[in-house]
Amino acid sequence: IIDTFYDGVEGKSEIIENMINDNIFGLDVSEFPLYLAEMSLLMRMLPLIITEKYNNVVEKKIKVFKTKDSIAEFIDTALFNTQSDENIDTEKNKGQVSLFKEKLNLGYVSFVRDEDDLKEMKKSLEFQEKIPRRRFDFVIGNPPYVGYNECIRQNVLIFELMKSKVVKLNNIYGVNLHSIPGNPKKYRPNPNLYAFFIAIGIALLKDQGKLCFIIPQTFLINPDYDVLRYHLSKFVSIEKIIIFRSEMFVGRGLKGNKPIITSSLILVIQRKLPVPENQVDVIYYKEPDDDIEICLNNISNNKNISRKKISQRLLSENIGNWNFIKQDEEVINFYRRYGENENISIYYDHHKAEEKFGSRFYFDGGYDIDERTALIEKADKTDYDVLRFPDKGFLIKGNKGYWPNSRNPKEKYFIRLRQANQGHHLLDSKYKVIWPYLRDIRFVFTDKSVIWSRRTTSTYYGIGSENKQELFYLLSLLNSCVTKKIVEMFKLDNESKREIMVSSSLIKKEIRVPKITKKNQHIKDEIIRQTEEFLRLEEVMLNELQKKIQDYIDDLVFALYFDADISNIGIEHAEAIKSQCSKNRFYEIVHS
Ligand SMILES: C[S@@+](CC[C@H](N)C(=O)[O-])C[C@H]1O[C@@H](n2cnc3c(N)ncnc32)[C@H](O)[C@@H]1O
Repeated sequence: IIDTFYDGVEGKSEIIENMINDNIFGLDVSEFPLYLAEMSLLMRMLPLIITEKYNNVVEKKIKVFKTKDSIAEFIDTALFNTQSDENIDTEKNKGQVSLFKEKLNLGYVSFVRDEDDLKEMKKSLEFQEKIPRRRFDFVIGNPPYVGYNECIRQNVLIFELMKSKVVKLNNIYGVNLHSIPGNPKKYRPNPNLYAFFIAIGIALLKDQGKLCFIIPQTFLINPDYDVLRYHLSKFVSIEKIIIFRSEMFVGRGLKGNKPIITSSLILVIQRKLPVPENQVDVIYYKEPDDDIEICLNNISNNKNISRKKISQRLLSENIGNWNFIKQDEEVINFYRRYGENENISIYYDHHKAEEKFGSRFYFDGGYDIDERTALIEKADKTDYDVLRFPDKGFLIKGNKGYWPNSRNPKEKYFIRLRQANQGHHLLDSKYKVIWPYLRDIRFVFTDKSVIWSRRTTSTYYGIGSENKQELFYLLSLLNSCVTKKIVEMFKLDNESKREIMVSSSLIKKEIRVPKITKKNQHIKDEIIRQTEEFLRLEEVMLNELQKKIQDYIDDLVFALYFDADISNIGIEHAEAIKSQCSKNRFYEIVHS
């Protein structure tokens, strides 16, 4: 405000001063940051004020308030977030629902909680007849990042209100922080406190108002924030996302040497329904060591940044994960083109799979068994091999012992299901594709009956089926460079290229399979044939040839995904196929 309006003329300084005194509000649970904010404002205003007849600058207090919890603070106002229903609601509730006055009372008088000022602010947020909505033009925040369970432990007021069911996670100022409509989560999501701040932040804005928050990058990736990504991409105009490298902002603030788990981003949105062609300005700041002030200056001057436009529609079509926005423009084009392929649900949706392939495909994790107690000797022919994932290659060879096939809860070796398991179906499937959650991205095939336990840190996932042919095909799709590139796009900053967390839900959400038509069916058939040959070679250890086939299959997979025009098929045409594929604009991206 000062920078924009002050021109050194006294008349202006009064206007500015009134603007600041009447219009700026701040909240915190702790007094210290409030004092800092106040001091900082006063110091900036000093050059303006000093020319006036003030004898006590502090008399005119800036409106910062101590609160018990910013989120709960506005529950007693008629503050809603939906685009259309607030008038109706206000009428129904006669303006104000003052249920929580008691709870919000600090229990003592605080310098930084002037109840009259606060009332005035809240009043200004109310719907008042004949007066246009008076909310805030700007909401700026560096919200606290506190985990869900920690908030419960700390008795954060809004969590108390949720516990007593006065407030529900599916309606935090009109934002459903539980689930996307029509797709209820089967588990209780754990949104961080900052998600609640985004909800209240939007609610505090007037129409066309803008919000600017610095938040962690988990916002882009965490499956629980699909609700935020959904809400933002559907109901507000996203203006800017500024992404910082992971090392930034370490060593700052009071707990400066505490390592932070994730890097930050700055989100700028406008409270206005997005137009279909809205483009989001995505800025990536490259220099990890710059001081914050230099960094912000550089961003304004287009220095040390890469900048691109991403259509908000692409964001709303991919609410599962927004990590792809960190990529270069051509990689994003690749991602969009890849997205035109078929959803992998044609395999895991049993209905569709039975119709299309005449079989089912079970995507599942391990079971609730303690591998340390596995048998050393096989006792019965129905015993399972305890999975030993091979260090290299694409077939399961050894094992880590044996596990009896016990389905009787009374027995010692009972194979207990975890909540997420789909019965024992994966276990009972004749063929499987298996991959590690965290290690190099490698999918292996097996027709052995294997079992593994589900551990929280390092575990495995599998796809089980009776349909060997389709599993061969899936094996090659999943091991392809195309899939690797897609999976890499979703890695967190602190994951290395080789160690990416590949959960079953990542595969289900992000992986596509080529659309198969009469025109390309023969390529799929060739992939299946070659995959079988490829695995057979592994058993006889002909590594050179195996490598060649792998490369050939990979090009065929690419041709299917990106509709590369290939004429003759067969390994003898591998060279020609490769050269045809490499003419496609995305070939280089996949192989970079
Ligand atoms: C990351 S700091 C930002 C402080 C200050 N706004 C700034 O930008 O320097 C987050 C602040 O949120 C405050 N806070 C934590 N829980 C809160 C809550 N439930 N309601 C309001 N403020 C809260 C903390 O006291 C802390 O000062």
